Amino acid sequence: MTEQIAVVPGDGIGREVVPAARRVLEAAEPEFEFVTAYAGDAVKAETGTALPDETRDVVAGADATLFGAAGETAADVILPLRRAVDAFVNVRPARAHPGTDALRPETDLVFLRENTEGVYAGHESRLSDDVATLTRVVTESASERLAEFACEYVDERGEDGFTVAHKANVMRETDGLFRDTVARVADERGVSHDEALMDALATHLCLHPEEYDVVVCPNLAGDVLSDLAAGLVGGLGLLPSANIGPERALFEPVHGTAPDIAGEGVANPCATVFSAAMLLEYLGYDDEGRAVRGATESVLEDGPRTPDLGGDAGTEEVTEAVLGRL
Ligand code: NAI
Ligand code: MG
Repeated sequence: MTEQIAVVPGDGIGREVVPAARRVLEAAEPEFEFVTAYAGDAVKAETGTALPDETRDVVAGADATLFGAAGETAADVILPLRRAVDAFVNVRPARAHPGTDALRPETDLVFLRENTEGVYAGHESRLSDDVATLTRVVTESASERLAEFACEYVDERGEDGFTVAHKANVMRETDGLFRDTVARVADERGVSHDEALMDALATHLCLHPEEYDVVVCPNLAGDVLSDLAAGLVGGLGLLPSANIGPERALFEPVHGTAPDIAGEGVANPCATVFSAAMLLEYLGYDDEGRAVRGATESVLEDGPRTPDLGGDAGTEEVTEAVLGRL
């Protein structure tokens, strides 16, 4: 079967790192059929809309999407694209690689973040000049779907279990429902789990990141805690992510368009190449995904490296080195 891969570079360094990662994907799995689609600031300037219907349709119809980043229009692009694939979980690995001077080299964990509700459900109101409110939405069904994904994730990878992050001591109804639902599903499936209050977890993650493997989080907590862990492993240029839906998925680096270096050919392609490795594994190409990750890790260890990691190589040279090791 020929899988169709949508490729949406977006703006800024998205146009540099996405073509680089596409070359790696082509080398890893020559059968993929690629469809390039456009979105972002430049498209808005040209056409008046940041996300043309055609791009949304290409992403909604593809088996998987590789996305770069959009600039000022990021929220108008990535949120609808995540909805287009019904991405109910955001998978964010934070792993320190040898040779990258990480703050906490022992860090190797993954956040499974609820991706559809919580405080990001969009229910905000301005009641008066003085008062603004926000309605937080937690459903049993979304918590269950996340928990089922987490149990499968842990089983497939042979992990011991997971930690549920919450603040149910204060948000008793919403995080209470989240925590109880995730724990119930894990118990039903025989997956071991513990829990942590998200504020205490932030401290403990800094001090002892090696004690965590898989952390299951509500939406906002997952956003904040995974960015904190990004700091521990050193560098936005290294962090991949996956937005997984029931039938398709979208893969993107955690970083944005990096306007300060865009167009200079020095963007680190590794975050997007690691995202491509996750794409391969998602589609069942486990050996190919492992090979891409291994090749990238060995380049990180031995060089060449881009300037964000202290090197003097460009995007092209690093990409060639990864291709060479593949
Ligand atoms: P950013 O991630 O683009 O850049 C932050 C810093 O990290 C910059 O100094 C940049 O040069 C560096 N950096 C990021 N990725 C790098 C890479 N691959 N190689 C080397 N250095 C790298 O975040 P910032 O500056 O907050 O946002 C810039 C623009 O990106 C904004 O317009 C924002 O809206 C957009 N953005 C889009 C996202 C998306 O589409 N998913 C996500 C985050 C930001
Ligand atoms: Mg964030």
